[in-house]
Amino acid sequence: MSLLTECVTPELKAIEKAGTWKKERMIISPQQTRIVLANGTQALNFCANNYLGLANNREIISAAKLALDKYGAGLSSVRFICGTQDIHVELEKKIAKFHGREDAILYASCFDANAGLFEALLTSEDTVISDQLNHASIIDGIRLCKASRHRYKHRDMADLENKLQASMSSRLRLIATDGVFSMDGTVTPLPEILELARKYNALTFVDDCHATGFFGKTGRGTEDYFNHLGCVDIINSTLGKALGGAAGGYTTGKKELINLLRQRSRPYLFSNSLPPPAVASASKVMDLITNSTKFLDRLTNATNLFRNNMKAAGFTIMGDNHPICPIMIGDARLTIEFADKMIEQGIYVVGFSYPVVPKDKARIRVQISAAHSQNDIEHALNAFVRVGKEFNIIK
Ligand SMILES: Cc1ncc(COP(=O)(O)O)c(C=O)c1O
Repeated sequence: MSLLTECVTPELKAIEKAGTWKKERMIISPQQTRIVLANGTQALNFCANNYLGLANNREIISAAKLALDKYGAGLSSVRFICGTQDIHVELEKKIAKFHGREDAILYASCFDANAGLFEALLTSEDTVISDQLNHASIIDGIRLCKASRHRYKHRDMADLENKLQASMSSRLRLIATDGVFSMDGTVTPLPEILELARKYNALTFVDDCHATGFFGKTGRGTEDYFNHLGCVDIINSTLGKALGGAAGGYTTGKKELINLLRQRSRPYLFSNSLPPPAVASASKVMDLITNSTKFLDRLTNATNLFRNNMKAAGFTIMGDNHPICPIMIGDARLTIEFADKMIEQGIYVVGFSYPVVPKDKARIRVQISAAHSQNDIEHALNAFVRVGKEFNIIK
Protein backbone atom coordinates (compact mmCIF):
# COMPACT_ATOMS: atom_id res chain seq x y z
CA MET A 1 0.00 0.00 0.00
CA SER A 2 1.37 3.46 -0.77
CA LEU A 3 1.90 5.88 2.10
CA LEU A 4 -0.93 8.01 0.76
CA THR A 5 -3.40 5.12 0.63
CA GLU A 6 -2.27 3.96 4.07
CA CYS A 7 -3.03 7.37 5.60
CA VAL A 8 -6.25 8.09 3.77
CA THR A 9 -8.04 4.73 3.91
CA PRO A 10 -8.77 4.75 7.67
CA GLU A 11 -10.14 8.29 7.36
CA LEU A 12 -12.49 7.20 4.59
CA LYS A 13 -13.62 4.20 6.60
CA ALA A 14 -14.28 6.43 9.61
CA ILE A 15 -16.46 8.74 7.51
CA GLU A 16 -18.44 5.77 6.21
CA LYS A 17 -18.81 4.30 9.70
CA ALA A 18 -20.06 7.61 11.10
CA GLY A 19 -22.77 7.58 8.42
CA THR A 20 -21.64 10.99 7.17
CA TRP A 21 -20.51 9.97 3.69
CA LYS A 22 -21.82 12.48 1.17
CA LYS A 23 -23.24 10.80 -1.90
CA GLU A 24 -23.44 12.79 -5.11
CA ARG A 25 -26.50 11.99 -7.18
CA MET A 26 -25.88 12.77 -10.81
CA ILE A 27 -28.31 14.84 -12.84
CA ILE A 28 -28.14 15.01 -16.63
CA SER A 29 -30.32 18.06 -17.24
CA PRO A 30 -29.77 21.76 -16.55
CA GLN A 31 -30.50 23.06 -13.06
CA GLN A 32 -34.21 23.81 -13.09
CA THR A 33 -37.50 22.78 -11.53
CA ARG A 34 -37.78 19.53 -13.48
CA ILE A 35 -34.50 17.70 -13.49
CA VAL A 36 -33.50 14.38 -15.04
CA LEU A 37 -31.47 12.01 -12.90
CA ALA A 38 -28.69 9.84 -14.33
CA ASN A 39 -30.98 6.80 -14.43
CA GLY A 40 -33.35 8.73 -16.67
CA THR A 41 -36.07 9.38 -14.08
CA GLN A 42 -37.52 12.85 -13.81
CA ALA A 43 -37.98 14.66 -10.55
CA LEU A 44 -39.23 17.97 -9.28
CA ASN A 45 -36.25 19.67 -7.72
CA PHE A 46 -36.79 21.08 -4.22
CA CYS A 47 -33.21 21.34 -3.00
CA ALA A 48 -31.34 23.86 -5.16
CA ASN A 49 -30.31 27.37 -4.18
CA ASN A 50 -31.98 28.45 -7.41
CA TYR A 51 -34.22 30.81 -5.43
CA LEU A 52 -35.20 33.14 -8.26
CA GLY A 53 -35.42 30.29 -10.77
CA LEU A 54 -32.87 31.96 -13.05
CA ALA A 55 -30.30 29.16 -13.41
CA ASN A 56 -31.77 28.07 -16.74
CA ASN A 57 -33.42 31.34 -17.79
CA ARG A 58 -33.34 31.90 -21.58
CA GLU A 59 -32.40 35.61 -21.41
CA ILE A 60 -29.51 34.85 -19.11
CA ILE A 61 -28.26 31.99 -21.27
CA SER A 62 -28.38 34.27 -24.34
CA ALA A 63 -26.38 36.93 -22.52
CA ALA A 64 -23.79 34.31 -21.51
CA LYS A 65 -23.54 33.01 -25.10
CA LEU A 66 -23.05 36.51 -26.49
CA ALA A 67 -20.30 37.14 -23.94
CA LEU A 68 -18.63 33.86 -24.85
CA ASP A 69 -18.52 34.95 -28.52
CA LYS A 70 -17.47 38.52 -27.82
CA TYR A 71 -15.09 38.10 -24.87
CA GLY A 72 -13.91 34.49 -25.09
CA ALA A 73 -13.96 31.54 -22.72
CA GLY A 74 -11.72 33.00 -20.06
CA LEU A 75 -8.99 35.47 -19.21
CA SER A 76 -5.96 33.30 -18.41
CA SER A 77 -4.99 36.05 -16.02
CA VAL A 78 -5.68 37.60 -12.68
CA ARG A 79 -7.42 40.96 -12.65
CA PHE A 80 -4.39 43.18 -12.12
CA ILE A 81 -2.27 41.67 -14.90
CA CYS A 82 -4.59 41.47 -17.91
CA GLY A 83 -7.77 39.93 -16.53
CA THR A 84 -10.05 42.98 -16.27
CA GLN A 85 -12.55 43.45 -19.09
CA ASP A 86 -15.13 46.22 -19.32
CA ILE A 87 -17.83 43.70 -18.33
CA HIS A 88 -16.09 42.96 -14.99
CA VAL A 89 -16.09 46.64 -14.06
CA GLU A 90 -19.64 47.06 -15.32
CA LEU A 91 -20.87 44.15 -13.15
CA GLU A 92 -19.11 45.54 -10.09
CA LYS A 93 -20.89 48.86 -10.66
CA LYS A 94 -24.26 47.13 -11.03
CA ILE A 95 -23.73 45.14 -7.82
CA ALA A 96 -22.74 48.28 -5.88
CA LYS A 97 -25.77 50.12 -7.25
CA PHE A 98 -28.10 47.23 -6.36
CA HIS A 99 -26.89 47.33 -2.76
CA GLY A 100 -26.66 51.15 -2.63
CA ARG A 101 -22.93 51.00 -1.92
CA GLU A 102 -19.92 52.92 -3.26
CA ASP A 103 -18.15 50.00 -4.91
CA ALA A 104 -17.92 46.21 -5.21
CA ILE A 105 -15.19 43.70 -5.98
CA LEU A 106 -15.68 40.37 -7.75
CA TYR A 107 -14.22 37.05 -6.69
CA ALA A 108 -14.34 33.58 -8.22
CA SER A 109 -16.75 32.59 -5.42
CA CYS A 110 -18.18 33.87 -2.17
CA PHE A 111 -15.97 31.33 -0.45
CA ASP A 112 -13.07 33.35 -1.86
CA ALA A 113 -14.67 36.65 -0.89
CA ASN A 114 -14.91 35.38 2.70
CA ALA A 115 -11.40 33.95 2.58
CA GLY A 116 -10.02 37.25 1.30
CA LEU A 117 -11.73 39.79 3.52
CA PHE A 118 -10.63 39.39 7.13
CA GLU A 119 -6.91 38.96 6.55
CA ALA A 120 -6.80 42.01 4.29
CA LEU A 121 -8.74 44.25 6.67
CA LEU A 122 -7.83 43.21 10.20
CA THR A 123 -4.50 43.37 12.02
CA SER A 124 -3.31 41.93 15.31
CA GLU A 125 -4.65 45.09 17.01
CA ASP A 126 -8.21 44.19 15.97
CA THR A 127 -10.94 41.79 17.09
CA VAL A 128 -13.47 39.82 15.12
CA ILE A 129 -16.56 38.49 16.88
CA SER A 130 -18.57 35.97 14.92
CA ASP A 131 -21.74 33.94 15.33
CA GLN A 132 -20.84 30.36 16.26
CA LEU A 133 -22.97 28.92 13.44
CA ASN A 134 -21.49 31.00 10.64
CA HIS A 135 -20.79 29.37 7.29
CA ALA A 136 -17.55 27.39 6.92
CA SER A 137 -16.09 29.99 4.55
CA ILE A 138 -16.47 32.77 7.13
CA ILE A 139 -14.87 30.54 9.76
CA ASP A 140 -11.96 29.76 7.42
CA GLY A 141 -11.58 33.40 6.38
CA ILE A 142 -11.39 34.46 10.01
CA ARG A 143 -8.82 31.73 10.73
CA LEU A 144 -6.50 33.38 8.22
CA CYS A 145 -6.44 36.78 9.91
CA LYS A 146 -4.25 37.97 12.76
CA ALA A 147 -7.01 39.65 14.77
CA SER A 148 -8.21 38.29 18.12
CA ARG A 149 -11.05 35.92 17.41
CA HIS A 150 -14.18 35.36 19.49
CA ARG A 151 -17.39 33.47 18.82
CA TYR A 152 -20.73 34.47 20.32
CA LYS A 153 -23.46 31.94 20.96
CA HIS A 154 -25.78 31.57 17.99
CA ARG A 155 -27.95 34.72 17.69
CA ASP A 156 -27.32 35.47 21.38
CA MET A 157 -27.10 39.24 21.75
CA ALA A 158 -26.18 39.18 25.45
CA ASP A 159 -23.16 37.05 24.63
CA LEU A 160 -22.23 39.33 21.72
CA GLU A 161 -22.43 42.35 24.04
CA ASN A 162 -20.14 40.64 26.59
CA LYS A 163 -17.60 39.99 23.87
CA LEU A 164 -17.82 43.58 22.64
CA GLN A 165 -17.26 44.87 26.18
CA ALA A 166 -14.27 42.58 26.63
CA SER A 167 -12.57 43.91 23.50
CA MET A 168 -12.88 47.67 24.03
CA SER A 169 -9.14 48.22 23.68
CA SER A 170 -9.03 46.90 20.10
CA ARG A 171 -8.44 49.27 17.21
CA LEU A 172 -11.32 47.77 15.18
CA ARG A 173 -14.07 45.36 16.26
CA LEU A 174 -15.87 43.54 13.48
CA ILE A 175 -19.09 41.63 14.12
CA ALA A 176 -19.45 38.86 11.51
CA THR A 177 -22.63 36.94 10.77
CA ASP A 178 -24.56 35.09 8.11
CA GLY A 179 -27.66 37.06 7.14
CA VAL A 180 -29.73 33.89 6.89
CA PHE A 181 -28.56 30.59 8.36
CA SER A 182 -28.96 28.04 5.63
CA MET A 183 -29.63 24.93 7.73
CA ASP A 184 -32.45 26.59 9.70
CA GLY A 185 -33.83 29.28 7.38
CA THR A 186 -33.55 31.66 10.31
CA VAL A 187 -32.43 35.29 10.11
CA THR A 188 -29.70 36.97 12.13
CA PRO A 189 -31.09 39.57 14.59
CA LEU A 190 -29.71 42.43 12.51
CA PRO A 191 -31.45 45.40 14.21
CA GLU A 192 -30.00 44.33 17.58
CA ILE A 193 -26.57 43.73 16.06
CA LEU A 194 -26.59 47.19 14.49
CA GLU A 195 -27.65 48.70 17.81
CA LEU A 196 -24.76 46.99 19.62
CA ALA A 197 -22.37 47.99 16.85
CA ARG A 198 -23.40 51.63 17.32
CA LYS A 199 -23.15 51.40 21.10
CA TYR A 200 -19.65 49.88 21.03
CA ASN A 201 -18.38 51.53 17.86
CA ALA A 202 -17.95 48.22 16.04
CA LEU A 203 -18.15 47.41 12.33
CA THR A 204 -20.62 44.91 10.87
CA PHE A 205 -20.16 42.19 8.26
CA VAL A 206 -23.02 40.14 6.79
CA ASP A 207 -22.72 37.17 4.44
CA ASP A 208 -25.98 37.39 2.54
CA CYS A 209 -25.63 34.39 0.23
CA HIS A 210 -29.06 33.10 1.27
CA ALA A 211 -30.77 36.48 1.00
CA THR A 212 -29.37 38.59 -1.83
CA GLY A 213 -31.82 39.06 -4.65
CA PHE A 214 -34.81 37.44 -2.99
CA PHE A 215 -35.17 38.36 0.67
CA GLY A 216 -36.69 41.60 1.98
CA LYS A 217 -39.23 43.85 0.31
CA THR A 218 -37.11 44.56 -2.78
CA GLY A 219 -34.78 41.56 -2.57
CA ARG A 220 -31.83 43.54 -1.17
CA GLY A 221 -31.31 40.91 1.51
CA THR A 222 -31.25 40.87 5.29
CA GLU A 223 -30.96 44.63 5.79
CA ASP A 224 -33.95 45.08 3.47
CA TYR A 225 -35.95 42.45 5.42
CA PHE A 226 -35.48 44.56 8.57
CA ASN A 227 -35.93 47.95 6.83
CA HIS A 228 -32.31 48.82 7.55
CA LEU A 229 -31.07 49.32 4.01
CA GLY A 230 -27.54 50.71 3.85
CA CYS A 231 -26.73 50.07 7.52
CA VAL A 232 -24.30 47.12 7.28
CA ASP A 233 -20.65 48.09 6.72
CA ILE A 234 -19.58 45.11 4.63
CA ILE A 235 -21.74 42.69 2.62
CA ASN A 236 -20.42 39.56 0.95
CA SER A 237 -22.59 37.48 -1.32
CA THR A 238 -22.62 34.94 -4.12
CA LEU A 239 -23.55 34.88 -7.78
CA GLY A 240 -23.86 31.11 -7.47
CA LYS A 241 -27.29 30.88 -5.86
CA ALA A 242 -30.20 33.25 -6.60
CA LEU A 243 -28.24 35.50 -8.96
CA GLY A 244 -28.15 33.10 -11.90
CA GLY A 245 -26.37 30.22 -10.21
CA ALA A 246 -23.25 30.22 -12.41
CA ALA A 247 -20.35 31.17 -10.14
CA GLY A 248 -18.75 34.14 -8.47
CA GLY A 249 -18.88 36.14 -5.31
CA TYR A 250 -18.33 39.69 -4.20
CA THR A 251 -17.76 42.17 -1.42
CA THR A 252 -19.58 45.47 -1.48
CA GLY A 253 -19.12 48.51 0.75
CA LYS A 254 -17.16 51.75 1.00
CA LYS A 255 -14.72 52.51 -1.79
CA GLU A 256 -11.72 52.60 0.57
CA LEU A 257 -12.51 49.05 1.69
CA ILE A 258 -12.86 47.83 -1.90
CA ASN A 259 -9.63 49.61 -2.87
CA LEU A 260 -7.84 47.89 0.00
CA LEU A 261 -9.17 44.49 -1.07
CA ARG A 262 -7.99 45.07 -4.64
CA GLN A 263 -4.50 45.71 -3.25
CA ARG A 264 -4.37 43.11 -0.50
CA SER A 265 -6.95 40.37 -0.82
CA ARG A 266 -5.13 37.19 -1.73
CA PRO A 267 -7.90 35.20 -3.48
CA TYR A 268 -8.50 38.31 -5.65
CA LEU A 269 -4.84 38.96 -6.37
CA PHE A 270 -3.74 35.41 -6.97
CA SER A 271 -6.66 33.67 -8.66
CA ASN A 272 -8.03 33.83 -12.19
CA SER A 273 -10.62 36.39 -13.30
CA LEU A 274 -14.25 35.37 -13.45
CA PRO A 275 -14.98 33.96 -16.95
CA PRO A 276 -16.98 36.23 -19.29
CA PRO A 277 -20.09 33.98 -19.55
CA ALA A 278 -20.41 33.96 -15.74
CA VAL A 279 -19.94 37.75 -15.62
CA ALA A 280 -22.53 38.29 -18.35
CA SER A 281 -25.11 36.01 -16.69
CA ALA A 282 -24.82 37.83 -13.39
CA SER A 283 -24.95 41.17 -15.16
CA LYS A 284 -28.17 40.16 -16.90
CA VAL A 285 -29.62 39.01 -13.56
CA MET A 286 -28.82 42.44 -12.11
CA ASP A 287 -30.75 44.06 -14.99
CA LEU A 288 -33.70 41.76 -14.34
CA ILE A 289 -33.94 42.32 -10.59
CA THR A 290 -32.68 45.85 -9.93
CA ASN A 291 -35.96 47.57 -10.77
CA SER A 292 -38.41 44.69 -10.66
CA THR A 293 -39.74 42.34 -8.02
CA LYS A 294 -41.34 39.99 -10.56
CA PHE A 295 -39.26 36.94 -9.61
CA LEU A 296 -39.24 37.86 -5.93
CA ASP A 297 -43.05 38.10 -5.86
CA ARG A 298 -43.38 34.65 -7.44
CA LEU A 299 -40.99 33.24 -4.87
CA THR A 300 -42.84 34.84 -1.97
CA ASN A 301 -46.16 33.41 -3.16
CA ALA A 302 -44.70 29.93 -3.70
CA THR A 303 -43.00 30.01 -0.27
CA ASN A 304 -46.23 31.04 1.48
CA LEU A 305 -48.21 28.37 -0.32
CA PHE A 306 -45.75 25.66 0.69
CA ARG A 307 -45.19 26.77 4.28
CA ASN A 308 -48.87 27.40 5.08
CA ASN A 309 -50.04 24.07 3.68
CA MET A 310 -47.23 22.06 5.30
CA LYS A 311 -48.09 23.61 8.66
CA ALA A 312 -51.79 22.95 8.13
CA ALA A 313 -50.96 19.30 7.33
CA GLY A 314 -49.26 19.03 10.73
CA PHE A 315 -45.56 19.28 9.85
CA THR A 316 -43.12 21.32 11.91
CA ILE A 317 -41.21 23.77 9.72
CA MET A 318 -38.36 25.90 11.03
CA GLY A 319 -37.31 29.26 9.75
CA ASP A 320 -38.47 32.85 9.42
CA ASN A 321 -40.78 32.76 6.40
CA HIS A 322 -37.79 32.08 4.19
CA PRO A 323 -37.76 29.84 1.08
CA ILE A 324 -35.45 27.54 3.04
CA CYS A 325 -38.06 25.33 4.71
CA PRO A 326 -36.53 22.75 7.06
CA ILE A 327 -39.11 20.02 7.69
CA MET A 328 -38.23 18.69 11.13
CA ILE A 329 -38.21 14.89 11.38
CA GLY A 330 -35.87 14.33 14.34
CA ASP A 331 -34.41 10.88 13.86
CA ALA A 332 -31.47 10.70 11.41
CA ARG A 333 -32.27 7.32 9.83
CA LEU A 334 -35.96 8.14 9.43
CA THR A 335 -35.00 11.40 7.73
CA ILE A 336 -32.80 9.66 5.17
CA GLU A 337 -35.53 7.07 4.49
CA PHE A 338 -38.12 9.86 4.21
CA ALA A 339 -35.97 11.72 1.64
CA ASP A 340 -35.41 8.51 -0.36
CA LYS A 341 -39.15 7.85 -0.40
CA MET A 342 -39.79 11.41 -1.59
CA ILE A 343 -37.38 10.88 -4.47
CA GLU A 344 -39.25 7.68 -5.37
CA GLN A 345 -42.36 9.87 -5.55
CA GLY A 346 -40.60 12.25 -7.93
CA ILE A 347 -39.72 14.96 -5.40
CA TYR A 348 -35.99 15.56 -5.12
CA VAL A 349 -35.12 16.57 -1.54
CA VAL A 350 -32.19 15.84 0.76
CA GLY A 351 -32.09 14.92 4.45
CA PHE A 352 -29.62 16.54 6.84
CA SER A 353 -28.54 14.96 10.10
CA TYR A 354 -25.78 15.19 12.73
CA PRO A 355 -23.08 16.56 12.52
CA VAL A 356 -24.41 19.01 9.92
CA VAL A 357 -27.32 19.83 12.28
CA PRO A 358 -27.67 19.11 16.03
CA LYS A 359 -28.38 15.53 17.19
CA ASP A 360 -32.11 14.63 17.11
CA LYS A 361 -32.80 17.63 14.90
CA ALA A 362 -32.53 15.81 11.59
CA ARG A 363 -34.56 17.41 8.87
CA ILE A 364 -35.42 17.55 5.22
CA ARG A 365 -34.44 20.91 3.85
CA VAL A 366 -36.84 22.05 1.16
CA GLN A 367 -35.86 25.08 -0.90
CA ILE A 368 -38.55 26.88 -2.82
CA SER A 369 -37.85 28.56 -6.15
CA ALA A 370 -39.66 31.27 -8.08
CA ALA A 371 -39.74 28.75 -10.93
CA HIS A 372 -41.98 26.36 -8.97
CA SER A 373 -45.53 26.55 -10.28
CA GLN A 374 -48.57 26.12 -8.06
CA ASN A 375 -48.85 22.63 -9.54
CA ASP A 376 -45.24 21.81 -8.59
CA ILE A 377 -45.83 22.94 -5.02
CA GLU A 378 -49.05 20.94 -4.80
CA HIS A 379 -47.25 17.84 -6.07
CA ALA A 380 -44.64 18.24 -3.34
CA LEU A 381 -47.28 18.89 -0.66
CA ASN A 382 -49.22 15.76 -1.66
CA ALA A 383 -46.07 13.64 -1.60
CA PHE A 384 -45.06 15.02 1.82
CA VAL A 385 -48.50 14.24 3.22
CA ARG A 386 -48.47 10.69 1.80
CA VAL A 387 -44.97 9.89 3.07
CA GLY A 388 -45.55 11.77 6.33
CA LYS A 389 -48.57 9.58 7.10
CA GLU A 390 -46.76 6.42 6.08
CA PHE A 391 -43.89 7.28 8.46
CA ASN A 392 -46.24 8.44 11.22
CA ILE A 393 -44.81 11.96 11.22
CA ILE A 394 -48.28 13.41 10.76
CA LYS A 395 -51.76 12.00 11.37
C1 LIG B 1 -23.59 31.38 3.74
C2 LIG B 1 -22.68 31.01 2.61
N1 LIG B 1 -21.56 31.72 2.42
C3 LIG B 1 -20.71 31.44 1.41
C4 LIG B 1 -20.96 30.40 0.54
C5 LIG B 1 -20.01 30.13 -0.58
O1 LIG B 1 -20.55 30.63 -1.78
P1 LIG B 1 -19.91 30.23 -3.17
O2 LIG B 1 -20.63 29.01 -3.64
O3 LIG B 1 -20.11 31.42 -4.05
O4 LIG B 1 -18.47 29.96 -2.90
C6 LIG B 1 -22.12 29.63 0.71
C7 LIG B 1 -22.39 28.49 -0.20
O5 LIG B 1 -22.75 27.42 0.18
C8 LIG B 1 -23.00 29.93 1.77
O6 LIG B 1 -24.11 29.21 1.96
